[in-house]
Amino acid sequence: MNRAPETRSPFLRVLDGTPLDPPPFWMMRQAGRYLPEYRAVRAQAGDFLTLCYTPKLAAEVTLQPIRRYGFDAAIIFSDILVVPHALGVPLIFEAGEGPRLAPVADAAAVAALKDRLDPDKVNPVYEAIAMVRAALAPETALIGFCGAPWTVATYMVAGHGTDDQAPARLLALRDEGLFQTLIDRLVEASIVHLASQVAAGADAVQIFDTWAGVLDPASFERWCAEPLRRIVAGLKALHPHVRVIAFPKGATLEALERLAGTGISAIGLDWSADRAAARSRLSGRVALQGNLDPLRLIAGGAALEEEVARIREDFAGARHIFNLGHGIRPETPLEHVEKLVAAVRRAR
Ligand code: CP3
Repeated sequence: MNRAPETRSPFLRVLDGTPLDPPPFWMMRQAGRYLPEYRAVRAQAGDFLTLCYTPKLAAEVTLQPIRRYGFDAAIIFSDILVVPHALGVPLIFEAGEGPRLAPVADAAAVAALKDRLDPDKVNPVYEAIAMVRAALAPETALIGFCGAPWTVATYMVAGHGTDDQAPARLLALRDEGLFQTLIDRLVEASIVHLASQVAAGADAVQIFDTWAGVLDPASFERWCAEPLRRIVAGLKALHPHVRVIAFPKGATLEALERLAGTGISAIGLDWSADRAAARSRLSGRVALQGNLDPLRLIAGGAALEEEVARIREDFAGARHIFNLGHGIRPETPLEHVEKLVAAVRRAR
């Protein structure tokens, strides 16, 4: 259920309007391969999707980074491709290769998508959320998530990850109507999936739009901003107090400004964002989350420590949630994560 506005969670307080110093802190992909205890559970599960669909194991890996580092928020362990899988698209994860889906690139494949999310795929996510919420301290928030329709569609159309998302961009240009139908299906599915996560115990949700940066302004408006508006409206009709964080990676400041009025509580910035400009143009309307380059966390030393100090300085007095500018990478040294945690918590 949604928490009351007078929550003790620092993460939710910032989302709800109060700047805090030090800022609340979590990391994208915080449950993952840089942690030895994750690798052990992952080996036990065998397959990545088995880990996602086994509530006890998904709950366990969600809690691991909280136990080790005491982050202010946990993010449920799952994947953005669970939604197309639950719409009936065959999906496998090949070791070292990333995801492989049966491509959804023509009218027949779009028409074959299921009308409802397959409960065998999504119910384990909701069960894991309930288990994690019950295990977390009240001041630690729990984040649910989904992929933005555009980003999920890029994987569905290509059937795998690509460098420039050309297959989806081309389909949108060649058959706008069909692409719109696919996006519409994903908007509906995302509303249901996010609302169910909130009902199961998620305090906030994040919408990952990893490939927002490859679109021209008009295409961004149509395939990213408009679907986001509809998801937020649909979700808020069911859960009026829900907090939504948008992470449109690579989007321009002009594009981010278009999202700030959609009813979201925060925008996640990647490491390329100009913090001063983002602060002056966005922070009156939304909290800002980010934006340490994950490579600085691998490099360590001054490249890490000086940037953490600059990020805190740049956002001092504003509503800020400290995070990375994208997910933590598997090769990140644990000692650097420890240094980061200490630096974010230190008094300025
Ligand atoms: O943040 C978290 O800790 C929660 C879990 C989470 C995962 N994926 C687990 C995962 C979240 C929020 C995601 C989101 C996700 N998944 C995105 C959007 C965010 C981003 O990183 O850009 C995307 C594009 C995906 C799709 C996906 N999942 C890809 C392309 C891959 C393969 C690349 C890779 O990193 O291995 C995955 C696999 C995946 N999802 C792993 C994890 C921990 C690694 C799989 C493993 O353990 O073998």
